[in-house]
Amino acid sequence: MEKFYRYEDENGRRYQLDNLVNPNKNRPNLTYEFLGVTRVWRWTKQRMMKAYADGLVIQSSEGGVPRFKRYLDEMLGQPITDDWSDIEHLHGSNSETLGYPTQKSKVLLERIIQASSNEGDTILDGFCGCGTTVDAAEGLHRNWIGIDISPIAISLIKRRLNDTYGKSLNSFEVRGTPTDEVSAVELWKQNPNAFQDWWLTEFEVFSTTFGTKGSDKGIDGVGQYLIDQKGNDTIKVGFQVKGGTHIQSKDIDALVGAMDKHKCQLGVFLTIENPTKPMMDTVAGSGFVEVPGFKYPRLQILTLKDYFLNKRPRLPKVNITFKAAAKKGKKTHQEELDL
Ligand SMILES: C[S@@+](CC[C@H](N)C(=O)[O-])C[C@H]1O[C@@H](n2cnc3c(N)ncnc32)[C@H](O)[C@@H]1O
Repeated sequence: MEKFYRYEDENGRRYQLDNLVNPNKNRPNLTYEFLGVTRVWRWTKQRMMKAYADGLVIQSSEGGVPRFKRYLDEMLGQPITDDWSDIEHLHGSNSETLGYPTQKSKVLLERIIQASSNEGDTILDGFCGCGTTVDAAEGLHRNWIGIDISPIAISLIKRRLNDTYGKSLNSFEVRGTPTDEVSAVELWKQNPNAFQDWWLTEFEVFSTTFGTKGSDKGIDGVGQYLIDQKGNDTIKVGFQVKGGTHIQSKDIDALVGAMDKHKCQLGVFLTIENPTKPMMDTVAGSGFVEVPGFKYPRLQILTLKDYFLNKRPRLPKVNITFKAAAKKGKKTHQEELDL
């Protein structure tokens, strides 16, 4: 619509200027002069005069070839075929991109949902990734269930829905992620990688093994935080997750070493086990990092127990690691489909 029906009349009706010249040059009965221009026209002179009198033929400049004012609201449109080349795939620079490697574009999922369901129906996506289906379903007034094996996906979806719908977001429930120390330890026993991903994404930071980045022994996740009001300056925080029972000072040393490599000014050590005295000494002796108006401990340790007691490391307030979802708000209501 924006590409072709580019004009608007005084009543706000969209139109395009269409060609009135006949592609067939050999039509003597359609060859005549109109508004000073002689061409082989598509219409008879009588029809042309009538359309002109109705204000539907316009000549933009003297001597210019008259064109037909085709109103969008008078067109029936064309049914969509099974070749959806009008929907672009998402690329990095797109404002919708959240950084999830297999993210699909929202208009694609909106089209699928609108074509195959009505408002109030329930949409299920069993491999929902960063939740494009879930987001589209919420905006189109559907109920939804999203399933994904990746805690990063779940964390991104929570953030995405809040960004997009704010107060108009319907309440939803997250099942399957740890809710207390016991269930978190159980997840670690079953699947240490999933435990690590879950805990990192609770802080909205990306795991270094996620996407294309390679893993690193010292750092499991990196987060980026704003440190000035204008939003220009940021610092990076390296996270290490230790699920095992034999944590040692050299684990903290590895974090410090990797912080330099990843240009992280602050480090957070997340552990199931309580830290040893030498570890606590290393952390206490690591000093502070000063940013305008604030001072943060360079190294901090947080145990799983403390995490569920709602203790948190001291970090800058604004975490910008996950890109904010771009589109805001819900769609207007859709008429029922005649299926
Ligand atoms: C192609 S992606 C989906 C992308 C999604 N349409 C989006 O826009 O973000 C496939 C998803 O399936 C998930 N997955 C893989 N195996 C799974 C399993 N056994 N159960 C649930 N989800 C799984 C992956 O974590 C991945 O997020």
